[in-house]
Amino acid sequence: MPSLGASCCAASWSADPLVQERRIDNPVDRPEVAAEVAAVALEVGPDPAPDPAPDPGLVAALRSAGCVFAEEEALLLSAAADDPDQLARMLARRVTGEPLEQVVGWAEFCGIRLDIAPGVFVPRRRTERLVETARSVLVELERPAVVVDLCCGTGAIGVAAVEDVPGVELHAADIDPVAVACARRNVTIGHVHRGDLYDALPGDLRGRVDILLVNAPYVPTAEIELMPREARLHERQVALDGGADGLGVHRRVAVGAPEWLAEGGTLLMETSRHQASRTATCCNEAGLHAQVLGPDEQGAVVVRAISGQRPSSGRMTR
Ligand SMILES: C[S@@+](CC[C@H](N)C(=O)[O-])C[C@H]1O[C@@H](n2cnc3c(N)ncnc32)[C@H](O)[C@@H]1O
Repeated sequence: MPSLGASCCAASWSADPLVQERRIDNPVDRPEVAAEVAAVALEVGPDPAPDPAPDPGLVAALRSAGCVFAEEEALLLSAAADDPDQLARMLARRVTGEPLEQVVGWAEFCGIRLDIAPGVFVPRRRTERLVETARSVLVELERPAVVVDLCCGTGAIGVAAVEDVPGVELHAADIDPVAVACARRNVTIGHVHRGDLYDALPGDLRGRVDILLVNAPYVPTAEIELMPREARLHERQVALDGGADGLGVHRRVAVGAPEWLAEGGTLLMETSRHQASRTATCCNEAGLHAQVLGPDEQGAVVVRAISGQRPSSGRMTR
């Protein structure tokens, strides 16, 4: 089965940092039309035996809905469906613009397959930059690390960052109960909590967190309506909305971080190219020492902020 990574499916790109990396350009608007499209496309039904060639009717329906990688999507949908009726329902959802990952129930991130449910934020390829940075911080630590993935969604960042790293104590937390349920399926070694930012965490983590990983919502409220339908209609507002200037959650994360980070601990927070200096300022105003990493070729920008005393040379502590 082909992978569900963004690379094989990237149909169109946007300058907006939280825009879907693969999306339908021309989704069918009305559910009854989508169902009809799906029924006609599947009149012949899928082959009873596994066949590496995608069903032509399925491909045609996906292509007419604007899916650039219709063949790959057809194979993925066929593999995910248990029977022709379920396949027709999945196709109907997909042609109305629901993200493929939510339709088939899984997403690939950093080579890891993660459960995902309708409405939950689909991990983006650019967020792999944050994971790479976290892994480089982890190897510098000379003791088992305490890692927190705040605003975890599916748990993608935390799971990928600590994969194959021995002895890590991983905690992931989110405010959305559906995301928390996904994260509980994905975080097999670690703890998942539900609640508003740091309120979700067990108190004994105060002052013990070595690496705080955060991809919080950072789209300014007024810009959400400019996002593609896949994000705007199929990911919860709470996963996208960063408040009036997009920095509402970043500010709260920064203000709380010194209390939870160990001395010399690291906060890694994804942000956008346009917001990076302001995200870094939030961290500095909270008493951390921040630097901006990126943007890289995918447009990924991460603010790295370190707790602890600034040495007299003004250099960072780590
Ligand atoms: C942009 S999504 C990122 C999800 C995940 N970190 C990822 O990169 O795939 C932001 C997540 O933050 C969560 N969230 C928003 N506000 C929150 C809050 N006050 N406390 C905890 N989680 C929050 C949302 O439910 C959503 O899952």
